[in-house]
Amino acid sequence: MGGIFAFACRSPRDGSAILEGLRRLTYRGYDSVGVAFLDDKIEVKKAMGPADRNPGLFSFTSRVALGHTRYATRGWPTVENAHPILDCTGRVAVVMDGVIDNYEQLRSSLASRGHRLVTTTDTEVIPHLLEEGKGPGDLLSALRGTFSAAYVRSGDERVWFVQDGQPLVIGRGQDCLYLASDLPSLYGFADEAVIVPEGSYGYISASGELSVFSADGSPVQQLTSKRVKYEPGSLDKAGYPHYMLKEIYEIPEALERTTHSLMDKYLRLSGMILYGARRAFIIGNGTSLHAGMVSAYYFSSLGGMSIDVVSAAEFPYYALDSVGTGTVVLAVSQSGETSDVIRSVKMAKQRGAVIVGVTNVLGSRLALESNVYLPIGAGPELAVPATKTFTSTLVALMLLAAHVGLTAGRLSQAELNELYNDIRSFSRSLAEDMPAIDAAASKIAGELRDSRDAYVVSSGITYPVALEGALKLKEAAMLHAEGVQLGELRHGPMVLARGNYPIIVIKPREEAAEELYSRVMSELRAREAKVIEVSDSTQAALQAPRAPRPELYPIAAVAPLQLLAYRVGFERGLPIDSPPGLAKAITT
Ligand code: F6R
Repeated sequence: MGGIFAFACRSPRDGSAILEGLRRLTYRGYDSVGVAFLDDKIEVKKAMGPADRNPGLFSFTSRVALGHTRYATRGWPTVENAHPILDCTGRVAVVMDGVIDNYEQLRSSLASRGHRLVTTTDTEVIPHLLEEGKGPGDLLSALRGTFSAAYVRSGDERVWFVQDGQPLVIGRGQDCLYLASDLPSLYGFADEAVIVPEGSYGYISASGELSVFSADGSPVQQLTSKRVKYEPGSLDKAGYPHYMLKEIYEIPEALERTTHSLMDKYLRLSGMILYGARRAFIIGNGTSLHAGMVSAYYFSSLGGMSIDVVSAAEFPYYALDSVGTGTVVLAVSQSGETSDVIRSVKMAKQRGAVIVGVTNVLGSRLALESNVYLPIGAGPELAVPATKTFTSTLVALMLLAAHVGLTAGRLSQAELNELYNDIRSFSRSLAEDMPAIDAAASKIAGELRDSRDAYVVSSGITYPVALEGALKLKEAAMLHAEGVQLGELRHGPMVLARGNYPIIVIKPREEAAEELYSRVMSELRAREAKVIEVSDSTQAALQAPRAPRPELYPIAAVAPLQLLAYRVGFERGLPIDSPPGLAKAITT
């Protein structure tokens, strides 16, 4: 995955334009950066880290140049795997955003036909297919996945592109045409931009030509244009005031990406490892621990297995004595760098445990320490309060639990396919519902602006979501909130439930919890507590979107809570993305 920024100009242009474009696309990933430009032949320069830290790469002038900033999903973050990637002859240079699902078959058939593949990426299949004389239209039919790619060829002053699910836009400046992954990155380069339609290909040329074709080769006659209107200061946040809000709005897209990022064979392998385990633990901290807690319900309902969930900080004291050969530790960490997780993983490994890592960062310490790792592929998360990585981790663990069920014979392949379909259709409907959820959250945020404390209450699979909602309120809104199990509320915490004390209640999805829910709600009403209900009922103060199956209900329920925490923090004028005294990863 990553960001693409290219130009094709009538007269030679400074490479600093590519640097600026990629800088604005850094939010799409920054494991490595690279650029190709046309001289007598193609010149390629690459480095690790973001564009900002590698300005030297862009000291060139050329009429045609193509840059990329990478978020590693297939292939480690290394200089070799950085884009652009060349064919065997060095005459084609390719960058890509997205994933190609069938790249392994393509890589082996290309290798058997004598191609030299020097990276471990999926992108590399593209330059070699082009080297064999395939055209951009052939790429659309040969490649399965969600991607957009762009390439330059030596002796051809055009930037070619293929769009199959990942965004691309084209802007026309005074002397140049620009191709980019998003509209805001074109700010100052072009006033208007054309949206490249999905399932199309085409080129921009140094002579000022822009052509777009459908997969069947017919020219696309009508192209939609949009104004490029963002302020430079807000570019990296794509117009959102904070990364946290942007990342919440990215949840639907991230869920979809997670389903593509997790390769079937590693899910199967991890499923078999867990199925064969004598004892299994899930470890993580903070939000990742909460995701692990939700997944214990998945492992039970989909996988038919019970699994112990322990804070990675507590694991050495609580569980280490019972770890040995036959133990599997499922380690969950968005950053893959959290020291409690790494320490516990190392200790467990020393005792013979097998480690299955679940992380958003491919080259992280957790990925390196794991026997098998599952990349959640949520895309870079820059706000300290974790949001889209929580929901993507839930999907990853849900799919893993389903693969345990598949191995155990509890679930058929058809049922697994249905789960994938449900996740994808749910993410589409969540995208549609997001503005309405946000509006409701904003309204309630006004009521909570002056509150000092709150409870977030639930039971069953959404009990860990209550813990997560309380954590978000603390981090983003600096509101002291406590996650409480619905039944436990009656065993003491209820003492505070009066007057204006806010109690956010996520209605449990389990039928068995209905009676308890009604009893607690009537007790709360009798005490005239300020109850804020979260459920998919139209009567709820914070209406969650409808989840097509119980496993997706935690995702439906957490989105309103994340937005509520964000909106309270916003009302209070807090530094939401970097709360005081916190860091994105606690690495020491
Ligand atoms: C919550 C948050 C932290 C992290 C925790 C674990 O918003 O950001 O609680 O979830 O520090 O981090 P990872 O998942 O990177 O191991």
